[in-house]
Amino acid sequence: MGSISQVTFTPLHPTFGAQVTGIDFSQPLSKDVIAQVKSGIDHYGVLVFRNAGLDDDSHVAFAQSFGELEPTPAASLGVKTRLPSPYIGDLANVDHQGNLKQYQDKLSRLFAKGNETWHADMQYHPRRCRYSILRAVQLPPAGTGGETLYADSRTAYDDLSSEMKKQLDTLVAYCSLLHNRRDAAPELYKGVDVMEWPNAKWKLVYPHEGTNRTNLYVTSYMHKIEGMSQQESDQLLKQLRDHAAQEKYIHTVNWENNGDMVMWDNTAVLHRATDGSGYIGKHVRDVRRTSCFDTGKYAWGENDSNNPWIIKLPKDPFAEPTAA
Ligand code: OGA
Ligand code: MN
Repeated sequence: MGSISQVTFTPLHPTFGAQVTGIDFSQPLSKDVIAQVKSGIDHYGVLVFRNAGLDDDSHVAFAQSFGELEPTPAASLGVKTRLPSPYIGDLANVDHQGNLKQYQDKLSRLFAKGNETWHADMQYHPRRCRYSILRAVQLPPAGTGGETLYADSRTAYDDLSSEMKKQLDTLVAYCSLLHNRRDAAPELYKGVDVMEWPNAKWKLVYPHEGTNRTNLYVTSYMHKIEGMSQQESDQLLKQLRDHAAQEKYIHTVNWENNGDMVMWDNTAVLHRATDGSGYIGKHVRDVRRTSCFDTGKYAWGENDSNNPWIIKLPKDPFAEPTAA
């Protein structure tokens, strides 16, 4: 057996995020190292591992140390994908043959827009995702974009007024991928009624399991608070989103090297991609993600754990419903 590894966390921001050193990813990781990473992610919410150098298999193995993995929606639906593992989400701007998608590929360009708004992964499903682990396989040239933004939604919660905290305590909202995609790119799903498609229900705040803190779980998937008019709901969601997106809560991760990897806790932070116009159609950005299901007591939120379902979207994103 090797010696005990000393995992070191170097803070990246005054309230959250750390860079992790001291892990030798070329060796199987000990229980002790995994336990140190687990306590680091509880505290920091986002962990950056530079040059981890994992491949698809070791990426999956690392993620499995933190809980049951969620198959990608494509794998669950039996849709053929570029990458063989059902647990590796393909966020690359390449087609199934690995060729760079062209700028003229309007659908993939518009669809990527929703990812540029603040979210927590898989909140549009009935069982949420706790950890996301995103790995850079091939990055576009430096200076062409592709950085990922994180927001400290636990500190954002702490800073709300006590009246607001009290109001948020019981509120529940509908969450939809369709809403998120259309809100960011109004050419998609024109005229479709979001309530006729699957919606997950989540409270606006949850206790964070792993610390004694509370997390503001308001994302761009949330589109209607139960028991409020649409206007009241829009106004409150906007107020909370604007609050959490203030500069002081944000940390930007600049991807530096192929092999860099970032792990975050979706029940502690929000994140978003940034504008890809500097590399889309010009340079490959191949990043891949694994997702660990939440195994805690809020894993199913306000949804029925006996009735799991997988996201469904209208077939033609550009079709407009016609009057019967
Ligand atoms: C994700 C995500 C942002 C990015 O992987 O869940 O939102 O910068 N990624 O690719
Ligand atoms: Mn995401």
